[in-house]
Amino acid sequence: MRATDAFGIGLAMVGATALGSACVDYSNMEPSFATLRQAAQAQGKLIGTAVDGALLSTDSEYARLLAEEFSAVTPENATKWGPLEPQDDTYDFSDADSIVAAALDHDQSLKGHVFTWHQQLPSWVESISDPDELRLALREHMETTMARYRGQIKVWDVVNEAVDDNAPAGYRENIFYELLGPDYIEEAFLMAHEADPDALLYYNDYAIERMGHKADFTYQMLRDLVARDIPIHGIGMQSHLSVHRYPAADDLRDNIRRFADLGLRVEISELDGRTSGLTGTLDQQYEAQRIAFQETVASCVLEPGCARVTLWGFLDEYSWLDDEGTEEHGLLFDDNYEKKPSYWGVMDGLRGKLAKRGPTLVKNGDFEDELDHWVGVDSTLSLESFEDQAHPVACARDRSSSESGLSQVDLLDAFASGGSFTFRAEVRQEGTAPAGINVALIVEQSGQDPSTLSLGYLYLEEGVWRTMRGSFALAWEAPPTSVRLSFSGPDPGVDLCITQVALNQLHPAPG
Ligand code: G3I
Repeated sequence: MRATDAFGIGLAMVGATALGSACVDYSNMEPSFATLRQAAQAQGKLIGTAVDGALLSTDSEYARLLAEEFSAVTPENATKWGPLEPQDDTYDFSDADSIVAAALDHDQSLKGHVFTWHQQLPSWVESISDPDELRLALREHMETTMARYRGQIKVWDVVNEAVDDNAPAGYRENIFYELLGPDYIEEAFLMAHEADPDALLYYNDYAIERMGHKADFTYQMLRDLVARDIPIHGIGMQSHLSVHRYPAADDLRDNIRRFADLGLRVEISELDGRTSGLTGTLDQQYEAQRIAFQETVASCVLEPGCARVTLWGFLDEYSWLDDEGTEEHGLLFDDNYEKKPSYWGVMDGLRGKLAKRGPTLVKNGDFEDELDHWVGVDSTLSLESFEDQAHPVACARDRSSSESGLSQVDLLDAFASGGSFTFRAEVRQEGTAPAGINVALIVEQSGQDPSTLSLGYLYLEEGVWRTMRGSFALAWEAPPTSVRLSFSGPDPGVDLCITQVALNQLHPAPG
């Protein structure tokens, strides 16, 4: 079986009609608010965007939309160390000054971005090899920059992307880590607080939106800093999504809530949505993007601890996503400055509306009808009960390979038309040290080997129940002949148990 990530396969829609009902005509929709900024204000939230200072003076339509639609701005590059201080003690504030001036003119909140990061450092900093020299350089950079914008930039990203899932100690081995050790993180927050005691200081990172290993490591790191009264006030979950697979709203909301319960302000700090992972018509990509943005923005609006959503730009043509070599349509306005469906997804999200959920597409997901509709794959399936589970449970035991487990085989009708979906399941593994569980759709199309569309992966300790959740989008080039939902993943001999399996289609909730 070809193990192919869900959306690396060339799948394009059978035909626009197949999604006909899901494609909503936004042209005649009368929003409750004329702008995103008004919608956000009604919820007591901020809607922001990354800003390219050069465009402010060269693109008047860009400047107009920026002023009208957004109540907050983050300089995309202008306040990073490299652009600000290209040589030691030689500053270029021109770009940052123009962004700050425009923001103040339009009563927009400013967030500075970012002091310690492994990218866009000036070469003179990258060549430092003495720890105290690096400390002094960082302190002086913070003091000079924060003093200039004191009372104007009141929120700063102090540390960016310090966690690295693949590094032995869990920390990205950047120059700060190499010379100062992991304590550079608290040192940076202490320095920034001394430079501007009134500023709110944030940690910022990507791939920490959904519950999982990196989010857990980040949570423990920030919980420790807060417990030791290190001056940290917020966290930014960057949310660089792919519209074919992104965090489920319930998962994101639980994650936002646990950071907020530490006393931190939480933000969606760099939202955009790659479309290239969903090979299909532009309408399909836009439809999936609209729902992904609605779910993500509504998750913030519905959580009291989430204060701001910032898009990482708003015009597709100027997005950093295109720097990566693939054609993306990651933001809210197309190349004609027209609002895309994603704009309306943000609008509905700002109005606190999640996408509409259809009925669960999984049959007997609660195992109240014993094992009907489920089969064991190279394993022995049994219906069981657990003290710590209120519902019946299905277990795959005597698993003979990592691909064996449990499957529901008759889901072709559910997915034949493609669309956007969200799933959840309670899962448990028994018999080994932490192991990973895969949830996937196994798709067969005539004339092709079966392909595996990965929906989610969770690494969990043995003997505990964990919730797996995720959202995804599908589009087909040729209609599939069979679609199965599969749970697999741990090594052979490890038992896999599941219950409360649900999978719902997501529909736009406009108006
Ligand atoms: O300003 C120079 C210009 O003088 C030069 O001619 C040109 C060609 O080399 O490069 C220009 O600098 C570019 C800069 O953007 C300004 O346009 C850099 O090459 C380019 O690497 C830089 O990309 C930025 C990227 O961070 C750097 O890693 C993107 O615009 C920016 O959107 C992106 O933003 C980051 C966040 O800060 C942190 N989270 C991830 C996010 C995406 O990578």
